Amino acid sequence: MSAGIDILPTRRFRSQDGALSPEMRAAFDSDGYLVLEDFVAPADCERLRQRALDLVEGFDPSEHRTVFSTTTRAHAAADYFESSGDKVRFFFEENAFDESGELRQAKALSINKLGHAMHDLDPVFDAFSRSGKLRRLAGEIGFRHPLLLQSMYIFKQPRIGGEVSWHVDSTYLYTEPLSCIGFWFALEDATLENGAMYCLPGAHRQALKSRFLRRDGHLVTDQLDATPWPDGPRAALEAKQGTLVLLHGLLPHFSGPNLSDRSRHAYTLHVIEGDSRYPADNWLRRGPDLPLRGF
Ligand code: FE2
Repeated sequence: MSAGIDILPTRRFRSQDGALSPEMRAAFDSDGYLVLEDFVAPADCERLRQRALDLVEGFDPSEHRTVFSTTTRAHAAADYFESSGDKVRFFFEENAFDESGELRQAKALSINKLGHAMHDLDPVFDAFSRSGKLRRLAGEIGFRHPLLLQSMYIFKQPRIGGEVSWHVDSTYLYTEPLSCIGFWFALEDATLENGAMYCLPGAHRQALKSRFLRRDGHLVTDQLDATPWPDGPRAALEAKQGTLVLLHGLLPHFSGPNLSDRSRHAYTLHVIEGDSRYPADNWLRRGPDLPLRGF
């Protein structure tokens, strides 16, 4: 964090059953994020962590070496990434390999993320993603016919965990009208040292500035609005294990690299409104065998 940037206090709430108070709804409306502490029991966090590690254990890195980087975008050229909308796929940290192409550290400490359909293909992630509590919460924030579009397991590995540059999720998860909301679960403590997110509270009221889509067989980014995001104060979304952070699809957020010795595992689920239109040129696609489902 550079000097001179104001950091706003982060408002924090609790909801045991997915219900939201008027104060919580007002906070989400005005800030574009909502922090719900202790939303997930520690044992459920550990179950997801263990399942992700088991999935990585079963993955042969000689099959695919796709790196996920929001800075170089090398992954965007890879079919392995492009066709991951209805799969469970494994993406490496940018600094996972040495000059000779060998992993610098153990496989389990080299993966950047898994994506993008664990919530439909893996029974452990499916059960976690479709709890009654989450269904209720989705209704509380205004979904009529929620559809679970995408899931990711993010490792933010010790020392090599990559930065995720400033973006809004609706750039990648676009509907007409816009409807994407992110559900971000801290499965380990996220701190300023190991790459917690920052956001620009209130900036979700600005128009969508770009869209990531398919054109002529390529993934491209269309600029829709060149106005920069406000240079205003940020909120640091530090989160203890078990915290759920709701992120409005237009809220700018970012997380720095993890240079610490501690990983920062998180699970994310992105939900869209079933009544909205999902354009055919969206980057994230599914085949006919795996239609989107709700909670
Ligand atoms: Fe994001």
